Formats: sequence, C-alpha cells, structure tokens
Amino acid sequence: MAATRRPGRNHLFVPGPTNIPDRVMRAMMVQSEDHRSVDFPSLTKPLFEDTKKVFGSTEGTIFLFPASGTGIWESALTNTLARGDKVLTARYGQFSHLWIDMAQRLGLDVIVQEEEWGTGAKPEKIEEALRADKDHQIKAVMVVHNETATGVTSNIGAVRKAIDAAGHPALLFVDGVSSIGSLPFYADEWKVDCAIAGSQKGLMLPAGLGVICVSQKALKAAEGQSGRNDRLARVYFDWEDHKKQNPGGYFPYTPPLPLLYGLREALACLFEEGLENVYHRHAVLGEATRQAVAAWGLKTCAKSSEWNSDTVTAILAPEGVDAAKIIKHAYVRYNLALGAGLSQVAGKVFRIGHVGDLNELSLLGAIAGAEMSLIDNGVKVTPGSGVAAASSYLRENPLNKG
Ligand SMILES: Cc1ncc(COP(=O)(O)O)c(C=O)c1O
Repeated sequence: MAATRRPGRNHLFVPGPTNIPDRVMRAMMVQSEDHRSVDFPSLTKPLFEDTKKVFGSTEGTIFLFPASGTGIWESALTNTLARGDKVLTARYGQFSHLWIDMAQRLGLDVIVQEEEWGTGAKPEKIEEALRADKDHQIKAVMVVHNETATGVTSNIGAVRKAIDAAGHPALLFVDGVSSIGSLPFYADEWKVDCAIAGSQKGLMLPAGLGVICVSQKALKAAEGQSGRNDRLARVYFDWEDHKKQNPGGYFPYTPPLPLLYGLREALACLFEEGLENVYHRHAVLGEATRQAVAAWGLKTCAKSSEWNSDTVTAILAPEGVDAAKIIKHAYVRYNLALGAGLSQVAGKVFRIGHVGDLNELSLLGAIAGAEMSLIDNGVKVTPGSGVAAASSYLRENPLNKG
C-alpha cells in the first residue's frame, strides 16, 4: 500500500537526522569519480584540516569513516585499548548505555557510575574514582557530552579538570554525536583524546560519515597496542591504514564521495555563520523551546537547568498520557516528526530536536504542532501558550550575536 501523501513540508524535529540545507543537498549531487586520481586530494586534504575547527582543535588528527556514530565509538575503543582494560564511565541515558554495552562486548572492564536519567556525568565522582585508582589501572574515561535520549548536556571542561585534579593519566573519550557542530566544543582546551561525531546532526548531512578527532596522546596509545596479543581486534576501523593514506588525500578504501562533497559545503555553511554564532543560535532556540514547555505547564526530563541541552529538549508527558500517542498524532495529523522516548523513558517523554539548520520560524512550527498534538490528546494546555512564550523570547533574543 502506498504511504499517505502529506502535502507541504515535513517538519523534521527528531534530534537527528536533521534538516539538510538545500545548498548541501545540491553539493552532494555529484557524478562518481576516481578516488585515486591526482585531483581527488584537492577535495579531501582541506577537509581534514577544516573539520578540526568544529571540534575546537588545531592539534588533533581527523579520521573520516563511512560509518554512523556507533562505528566511531568502536574505532575509539579498539584502537587505543586492550582486552580487559579498565574504563570509567557513567550511565544516564540510552546512548551512554549503548556505549557501555559496546565496551563490555568488546571485552573491556567497565566501571559504571549509575546516574539518574535527567542528570549527567558528575566530575566530582569521576575525580574520586580516579584518585582511588592509585596504580592507574583505568585507561580511559568515557563521557557522552550530550545525552540525546534525555536532553542532558554534561560539562566536559569540568570532567577534564577532575581528571587533572586527580593527577590521572587516563585518556578522555567524548561522544559529541549530538553536540559537535552545534554546542561549544573545545577538544584541545579540554584535552579530549577521542572526540566522536556523526554526520547527521550538527553537521547537517545524511547519516553515514563518522568523524573522530584524535589527540597525539591517543595516537601514541594506539601505536602502543601494536604487537600486543591482547589488543582489541580492529580491521575496518584501524587508524594505521588511514594514517598511511590520509596525508596524501586518499583513503584505504572507497570513500563515500557525495558525503565528502556534502561535508565541504556543510562546513562552509558553519564557517560563514561563524561557529560562535552557531552555538549562540542553538542556545537561543533551546531556551525558546524550554520557555514553551514551561508555558504548557510541563517539565523537561533534565532535572535542573544545569543539565539543559541546547540541541534537544525531552519533555515529560503528564501522568497517564502516553507520549508515544502525542508523537504519532503529531506525525500523522500535522506532518511533524518529534523524537520518541527511548528505553527507560519510552512512552514517558517526547523530544523536540532543535539542532542543525533551523531558525525561529521553523522552531515555532514544531512548537505549534507539539502544542496541537498535546491538546488533541487531552493534555490541558492553553492553546497558543507555548507559541506565545517561545515567540516572545525569540523576539527579544536575536539568533545572530552580530
Ligand atoms: C549521543 C549519541 N551517541 C551515539 C549515537 C549513535 O549514533 P548513530 O546512530 O549515528 O550510530 C547517537 C544517535 O543518535 C547519539 O545521539
């Protein structure tokens, strides 16, 4: 049976994949070409350099993989660690959970700090665990910067301070899948050893290009693994193969050409706007969304303002209301895609993604649609209240810092 035609634009407000700017879509409409030609490096060499900027790095090394973010998690772990190595992390949502699950399945010894969903990584607890690890058995600290499932951002600068305060040499791995390219991210300043991004959120591309920014320290850790019997198996994600090919502008296998052209254009969009403006725009859109939620009389999954994410807001449905129904109705009736609640919060939250290529009026469309779906599902919300609150805030707070 053919899908129902829904006239007008679909409003895509899941927190990734995000809307692709028209010029980025056009840039991806390319004929295939020889990825071993003498011309190819003129596309790729600047990409390796320019991509670093969205990670806040000049010192790191970028590797680009035809993979989603999950593959890049694997590349960070398998290149730098050995079987049985201890890693320290915290679980506070579905994505931190899945990364833990991967680390365990790879044979790492994972120390998990359980945090309430709606909060995030606690630097003081991380410091305490590292101080207690006198003989430096912990080889890496893994943190999800922006927990997309709950709309929570953790403070990576504070995690770095905690590691330094403990005087611990562990590597710092940060999942920036739903933050890099939209929230402030300073890989060099925070001494992030592996910073992980996917293409389908802040980079405004389709899924399928995984990006990692690797510090010198992590590269050394990877080199230290070679020849060890207990090293984690890696083939496709082995950085060594990329290190041989990338400096010349080539890849160890066939790269996804349209995504590379798309990345070049997406970076141009971000740099033309200015990264600081991009961060500011996300902060304003995030706050406008929260103003709407407050006007509806609802609560966010984030337990307090320190955890608020400026790329995604997870909203708690009132007791007795199934959030999945609000999401389905918004999609079927109003052509609005909201993010589902995942795992522990399935049916309890719906999410508004405010990440990537969007402005005031696109966000207001999503807020209006969510509000209508809430009312249609029997939630006592004053019609227009969320839109009024968000639009007042947006009128007072320009997206561009100027
Ligand atoms: C924070 C975070 N980490 C990791 C992932 C997994 O990335 P992917 O779906 O690109 O494999 C996601 C996906 O949404 C995410 O939001």
